Amino acid sequence: MAFRSLILSFLCSLAAVNAITVYNQLPLAAQSTSTAGGASATLDASVTYTAPGSTATGNYTGLKAYDPTTWPAPANPDPAPATSFALNLMPSADLVGNISIKTPAAFFGISIEMSVVTQVCKSHIQVPFLNLMALLTERAGQVVIRVGGNTQDYATLVGNTSDGKMIEKQSIDPNNPTGTPTLIFTDELLYTMSNISSLVNIKWYLGVPFNDTENIHMEIVEHGERIIGDNLLGFQIGNEPDLYAQHLHRPTDYNATSYYLEFGQWVNAFNNDANVAQKATMIGPNLALANWAMEDVWATPFLTDYTNNLYALSVERYPDDNCAAIYAGLGDAKDQQAQLPLYLKHSSGVSICSALTNTGMIAQQVQKPWIMFETNSASCGGFQGVSNVFASTLWALDYGLQMVYSNMTHALIHVGGQDVYYNPFTPPPTNQSSFHQWTVGAIFYAILAMPEVLGKTNTSRVVDLFANGNNDATPAYAIYENDQLARVALFNYMTDPTGAMALNVSIAVGGGETGQASTTPSSVKVKYLVADSVSERYNITWAGQNLGGEFGADGRLTGEEQVVTVPCDTTAQICTIRVPAPGFALVMLSDSAAQNSEPEATATYSTTALTKTYNTATVDESILATSNGHSGKDRFVGSTSKGSSGAGRAAGVIPSFTAVFAVLASVGVLYKAFWT
Ligand SMILES: *[C@@H]1O[C@H](CO)[C@@H](O)[C@H](O)[C@H]1NC(C)=O
Ligand SMILES: *[C@@H]1O[C@H](CO)[C@@H](O)[C@H](O)[C@H]1NC(C)=O
Ligand SMILES: *[C@@H]1O[C@H](CO)[C@@H](O)[C@H](O)[C@H]1NC(C)=O
Ligand SMILES: *[C@@H]1O[C@H](CO)[C@@H](O)[C@H](O)[C@H]1NC(C)=O
Ligand SMILES: *[C@@H]1O[C@H](CO)[C@@H](O)[C@H](O)[C@H]1NC(C)=O
Ligand SMILES: *[C@@H]1O[C@H](CO)[C@@H](O)[C@H](O)[C@H]1NC(C)=O
Ligand SMILES: *[C@@H]1O[C@H](CO)[C@@H](O)[C@H](O)[C@H]1NC(C)=O
Ligand SMILES: *[C@@H]1O[C@H](CO)[C@@H](O)[C@H](O)[C@H]1NC(C)=O
Ligand SMILES: *[C@@H]1O[C@H](CO)[C@@H](O)[C@H](O)[C@H]1NC(C)=O
Ligand SMILES: *[C@@H]1O[C@H](CO)[C@@H](O)[C@H](O)[C@H]1NC(C)=O
Ligand SMILES: *[C@@H]1O[C@H](CO)[C@@H](O)[C@H](O)[C@H]1NC(C)=O
Repeated sequence: MAFRSLILSFLCSLAAVNAITVYNQLPLAAQSTSTAGGASATLDASVTYTAPGSTATGNYTGLKAYDPTTWPAPANPDPAPATSFALNLMPSADLVGNISIKTPAAFFGISIEMSVVTQVCKSHIQVPFLNLMALLTERAGQVVIRVGGNTQDYATLVGNTSDGKMIEKQSIDPNNPTGTPTLIFTDELLYTMSNISSLVNIKWYLGVPFNDTENIHMEIVEHGERIIGDNLLGFQIGNEPDLYAQHLHRPTDYNATSYYLEFGQWVNAFNNDANVAQKATMIGPNLALANWAMEDVWATPFLTDYTNNLYALSVERYPDDNCAAIYAGLGDAKDQQAQLPLYLKHSSGVSICSALTNTGMIAQQVQKPWIMFETNSASCGGFQGVSNVFASTLWALDYGLQMVYSNMTHALIHVGGQDVYYNPFTPPPTNQSSFHQWTVGAIFYAILAMPEVLGKTNTSRVVDLFANGNNDATPAYAIYENDQLARVALFNYMTDPTGAMALNVSIAVGGGETGQASTTPSSVKVKYLVADSVSERYNITWAGQNLGGEFGADGRLTGEEQVVTVPCDTTAQICTIRVPAPGFALVMLSDSAAQNSEPEATATYSTTALTKTYNTATVDESILATSNGHSGKDRFVGSTSKGSSGAGRAAGVIPSFTAVFAVLASVGVLYKAFWT
């Protein structure tokens, strides 16, 4: 309700304004997708489900975000893991060794490359973005989003761009192997972020330009703090500095001490800038762990010297890269299909985290959050038929829980442009945005499920159960909320249409081997995250609900939420939970555990208006048309020049005006439909 009235009051305040600025709405996608043409014409069908293993469309050459190529599900492990195993769980956290510290429900956040932010945050159709973010805030209270990446180091805040766009690409840095452009951007980007936060509870991290420490540009800090205010949490200082020398952005002897010294120059700039009130907003060292270890930075006086300026400690880590497929000189491209089995292993997340646990302890000592600032399945765009399928859903959820277990505070899943495989969500190619909706990627379901796994109290502590003899294909975690056992997370990485490799997991609480009185409940509630195969791209459901196929997402779930009640054996004091192959089961052990996993909106509003037949989530095309900034002007009489007339509104107050207006209008319509 608060959400709606906020929108209405915003609409009313906008209705008083009659100066309309029509900006060039073309996001960068339009200019940056020259590679291999646009999405192919064969992708025009609003939904395409590709059978696992099918490459019937031939060798696809269109945008990677819509590549239909999938691989047959890999053979299951041999020897096969036991399909029945027991978990005897301690009822309270104080009895559990090595359990994590408390983590927020909003553990997973989003990392958006600065050069593509306009696609996500300010193209014609922001409604799907807002709806997707609302799904997360309903579950976690907030979403943290980082705007930065390779582009941030060469991004400059300017008073205006020559063509009025909020971000303008200047040139491609030839030394940057991720091919990201140098940018100029205006305050409008910051206003747009602020306006988005007024609709959905998004907190932001921004990256500063770290390319030139002799000429420090504090504008983004000053303007960011002034415009975004409390919704701006901190500033990333340097992006993957352990790659600077390799990328020829610094001399070859650039090392952790050099970074420590440059960071210090920024500390001085923050401390000496009278226009910056918040000094403890700096985030570092953002290593890629490519050439340095975290410990190389901790060996310098970084933590002691800068503790008063540090907001959080950070790292950016992918388990692998697909760079050789894109850039010459890096050898043969990896066999894409051969990568798939590597993501069907619990040990993938465990091995990434092994380099991070020591910093987890250091972060506790210095009392700072410890953030995975950018991650996904593989850098340089991910792997074909791997990063965009259900294998990555299960992998990301397992990896995320492993990061929680390793005492990390947040992990931000990276969103690239149109030409990557791993996006959690992809806006349509710009020239198709008037008739196509968004595409939700497989990994988004992990981001969606995570806050329900953790529970919304922000008190969750997680422990890896080393289940089934620590089998790589059948991991499990226990989640304690307010220090009481609340939920169990069960994974099955295998694919088996016959059902023979489905798991029967016998959960007992207290009693048995634990030496405690048995407190096994008489029944439990279970939510499933499932697909028919680890190679499924779109037909994935979380608790029976789905977000649509290719160009099929408006950001709202379709289908009825399905929560399965499983009766337990009250004599044997055991609850036996089936986990399909492949699949994930969230077992909620009490009513409060189930309530804390329930999204707010479901508790508040009737879901009847949401019930639609499978994958028919659509916004009326006329709404899409009017959410295009260019037609927004038709709704009001007004000039098309900036600040030319302004009833009660100062000239120079120039939001991404029509876009913001159009978004609000569309959201109003959608939410109205939602409630009636
Ligand atoms: C979109 O742009 C791409 C690349 O310029 C082009 O190949 C494609 O045909 C365009 N699609 C439409 C629907 O205009
Ligand atoms: C696809 O490419 C492979 C080699 O990568 C080739 O063997 C095959 O014939 C191609 N298929 C089609 C349909 O073009
Ligand atoms: C805690 O973790 C350490 C390091 O992995 C291990 O040696 C120890 O046995 C664990 N303790 C418990 C109680 O699981
Ligand atoms: C996480 O922090 C807790 C509390 O300090 C500690 O007991 C536990 O061993 C840590 N976990 C890991 C994996 O280091
Ligand atoms: C959990 O934390 C989020 C911010 O991360 C906040 O919005 C929410 O209100 C908190 N929930 C509770 C129950 O404290
Ligand atoms: C830093 O980046 C800015 C913006 O791209 C550029 O103008 C400037 O020359 C760069 N400085 C150095 C030392 O590379
Ligand atoms: C900003 O606008 C002024 C006047 O319209 C123009 O001279 C200047 O080049 C513009 N700056 C940029 C960075 O485009
Ligand atoms: C970093 O390089 C400098 C020389 O440029 C050297 O004096 C210093 O010892 C190096 N520091 C580390 C941590 O390797
Ligand atoms: C799992 O449980 C079901 C139902 O109780 C049973 O039919 C099946 O045989 C069990 N599977 C295994 C591997 O124990
Ligand atoms: C989606 O998957 C379900 C089972 O998981 C299956 O029954 C249904 O036919 C699939 N839908 C499509 C369109 O493939
Ligand atoms: C939205 O943006 C406009 C300028 O673009 C600004 O005046 C207004 O304060 C912003 N609103 C919020 C809530 O940030």
